[in-house]
Amino acid sequence: MKYFSYFIFFAFLAALLLFLKNALEPQSESLYLTGSEKCGECHGLKNEGNQFEIWKNSRHSEAYTSLLSPKAKDFSAKSNIESPEKNTLCLKCHTTEHYVNVTEKSGFFNISEGVGCEACHGAGSKYSPAEIMKDESLFIYNGGIKGDEKSCRDCHSEKGNKEQKISEDVCPFQENDFEFKTAFEKIKHPVNKDKQ
Ligand code: HEC
Ligand code: HEC
Ligand code: HEC
Ligand code: HEC
Repeated sequence: MKYFSYFIFFAFLAALLLFLKNALEPQSESLYLTGSEKCGECHGLKNEGNQFEIWKNSRHSEAYTSLLSPKAKDFSAKSNIESPEKNTLCLKCHTTEHYVNVTEKSGFFNISEGVGCEACHGAGSKYSPAEIMKDESLFIYNGGIKGDEKSCRDCHSEKGNKEQKISEDVCPFQENDFEFKTAFEKIKHPVNKDKQ
């Protein structure tokens, strides 16, 4: 009987230690959207190409606000879509969070950033540390995406037509067929390799 009480005591102690170990150990980092502002903390340097400013000056950073414009509202009223800024059909190509299939977001993330860095490069919580970013294979291993013509075509298709009904893969407001070379020229944001 005495040994049995010892056994209960040690079993209890073991369970307690296991509980404490789990409670105190850092949890494995989860994957979430950090928001473009966070990327800009490192990618806003003039002598390294200031990717943040180039993006901010591009139409991509306006993609969400465009859904609030009178022309978006007029089209939607005609097509029996309630609010374009709440409609997942429109949001899918006009915001980061409805395009990527990662639902977790940091407190810094804001839907109004439109098509942000992470729409093209993947949710950034795991690859953002600088030591990972500097190594291409680690960047990719941690969920980073380099971006290419194929990914543009998820949102840029052949031209749309404002008279048509909205379909999932064509924007009624896309006036020209997508041409990768000229389009990429407008949004490219290289790191300046001449920096010392
Ligand atoms: C802590 C600083 C830091 C943060 C935060 C950061 N980056 Fe980076 N990133 C770097 C550095 C340093 C490099 C390497 C630059 C070079 O090649 O000179 C880099 C490289 C990259 C590359 C090129 C990777 C390759 O191998 O081709 C991409 C794309 C990129 N970053 C996107 C992002 C995005 C998107 C975010 C936000 C989710 C982000 N970065 C956040 C520091 C950072
Ligand atoms: C998540 C969807 C999405 C992806 C991916 C995407 N775009 Fe866009 N792009 C948009 C939206 C939406 C607009 C229009 C924003 C606005 O004006 O409201 C736009 C606008 C543009 C414009 C400005 C229109 C023009 O012709 O002057 C260019 C250029 C462009 N994108 C290039 C690219 C390139 C190049 C890629 C791939 C590297 C790409 N985009 C990937 C959604 C996307
Ligand atoms: C398949 C992806 C996709 C869907 C779905 C989509 N858009 Fe777009 N939208 C784009 C792209 C890409 C552009 C940029 C076209 C260009 O300029 O070449 C754009 C441009 C626009 C513009 C023009 C911005 C400007 O001022 O020039 C408006 C407005 C707009 N979209 C509203 C909407 C509305 C409203 C919906 C939903 C009914 C919607 N879009 C659905 C991808 C999409
Ligand atoms: C519309 C899609 C798109 C958006 C939005 C976007 N990028 Fe990129 N980015 C690309 C593509 C495509 C490349 C070229 C990849 C290649 O050369 O293989 C690239 C390249 C890069 C590189 C590497 C440049 C080099 O010289 O090697 C960095 C760093 C980078 N992006 C950071 C960012 C940051 C930070 C943001 C947001 C402020 C951002 N990108 C927004 C598509 C995008």
